[in-house]
Amino acid sequence: MPPSLPTLTTPILLLLFLLSAVSSSSLPPEDGIRVVYSEKRIDLTGPIVKVFLTLKIENAPAASDASQVLLAFTPTEVEHLAIVKATRAEGKHKKKAYIPLLVEASDLAATPNGARLYSVLLGTPLKPGEATTLKVLYVLTHSLEPFPAEISQSESQLVYYRDSAVLLSPYHVLEQVNYIKMPSNRIESFTRVDPTSRAGTEVKYGTYNNQMPNSYLPILVHYENNRPFAIIEELVRKVEISHWGNVQITEQYKLKHGGARHKGVFSRLEYQSRPSISGASSFKNLLARLPPRVYSVYYRDEIGNISSSHLRTDSHKSELEIEPRYPLFGGWHCTFTIGYGLPLQDFVFESIDGGRYINLTFGCPLLDTVVDDLTIKVVLPEGSKNPQPVVPFLTEQHLETSYSYLDVVGRTTVVLKKKNVVGEHNVPFQVHYDFNPIFMLAEPLMLISAVFLFFVACIAYLHMDLSIGKSS
Ligand SMILES: *[C@@H]1O[C@H](CO)[C@@H](O)[C@H](O)[C@H]1NC(C)=O
Ligand SMILES: *[C@@H]1O[C@H](CO)[C@@H](O)[C@H](O)[C@H]1NC(C)=O
Repeated sequence: MPPSLPTLTTPILLLLFLLSAVSSSSLPPEDGIRVVYSEKRIDLTGPIVKVFLTLKIENAPAASDASQVLLAFTPTEVEHLAIVKATRAEGKHKKKAYIPLLVEASDLAATPNGARLYSVLLGTPLKPGEATTLKVLYVLTHSLEPFPAEISQSESQLVYYRDSAVLLSPYHVLEQVNYIKMPSNRIESFTRVDPTSRAGTEVKYGTYNNQMPNSYLPILVHYENNRPFAIIEELVRKVEISHWGNVQITEQYKLKHGGARHKGVFSRLEYQSRPSISGASSFKNLLARLPPRVYSVYYRDEIGNISSSHLRTDSHKSELEIEPRYPLFGGWHCTFTIGYGLPLQDFVFESIDGGRYINLTFGCPLLDTVVDDLTIKVVLPEGSKNPQPVVPFLTEQHLETSYSYLDVVGRTTVVLKKKNVVGEHNVPFQVHYDFNPIFMLAEPLMLISAVFLFFVACIAYLHMDLSIGKSS
């Protein structure tokens, strides 16, 4: 009798895993690959750090095929890393295109200085003697430290940024240059690692030649950054699908100004009379990008509706500008709710296998924000079965049941959770489910039978003689 499938495959998979673990950790990561040229552009103009890296990679003629390229991050960077994306140049000259690649945290043994490795999977392996160009984007949140940590209403916000003058890499880097871009001319100080130069709002480190693997030269930049440090500590987005024609979205926000804490008293008079210098780092409005054809938009907090919001719509998008009741200064909080309806036919479709799916945008509709803790709850119509979320990155997932009016068995709800969410996470995701249209009749039938019972009761009442009259 042949052994059943699971008992056969489990030991094989385990063996394969052990083999791959042994072979990859015994292989030095720098084997064959070296970085011929690296250019790193660090964008510090906003509250979030964005790093654009271009790497020209070469595989040594005597090496074997390379299927991955490793990126190194310090443990602090890994803690604040929201997303890493990579593409590879293919084709020459005019036909050049950048193909997206998979990036995953690598389980390779730690490097000598404790750096963590991520591997970029190359798709087609890099043959010995070949070269290729990779473009990498990664985003760091909570990586700008306000200094001074407390400022008064009339002061500008200054922040520290820490990094390395040279690229942290497990490979030998032959030539490299690193740029740091700041929002204004006010740069208090920056570490020099010659050659270092400054042109306007940009500081250039390099060109450096011939850096050994795992090189790290710490630098510190101190500069002015008055962009809104809008941190959403918690966002819960609830999506309710009704097959009667709409998708209702309710978003609960806990917003905080994550910049230098405000000290002293707040003077509204000074704030309003000298808007350019007073409260330079505070913010009083935010922009939410919503899908086109939204309707019944509301914006309220615990007191009630907030009227200071403006909605602009065109055929591609809707923009909702919201203004909390008071401007937000460093350390201040506010909570509010945004709700809107969307037409069902724009978001829910029938899949080829006869099931249904909803196709929505992940992340947060408020632009230029960081969400520390995001929860998306997709409430499926009553009677839906086999829910299957499809999200292009790792999320924590579970199911729960929600109840609303007239529900008998409750609604299956798919809960997706993710920490450290930025604008780059605003990509489509889907939840597939099976739905039997007979369930659409459940609620109307209940209403009809309730009305019917009511009439029967009335008729019965009218035909019953309940009076305590004299009997003849
Ligand atoms: C708040 O606004 C919504 C949508 O505009 C409206 O339906 C609701 O009645 C308003 N509530 C109050 C308390 O004004
Ligand atoms: C989801 O919607 C986006 C546009 O909003 C579209 O590009 C994408 O192809 C859709 N995905 C599916 C699976 O329908």
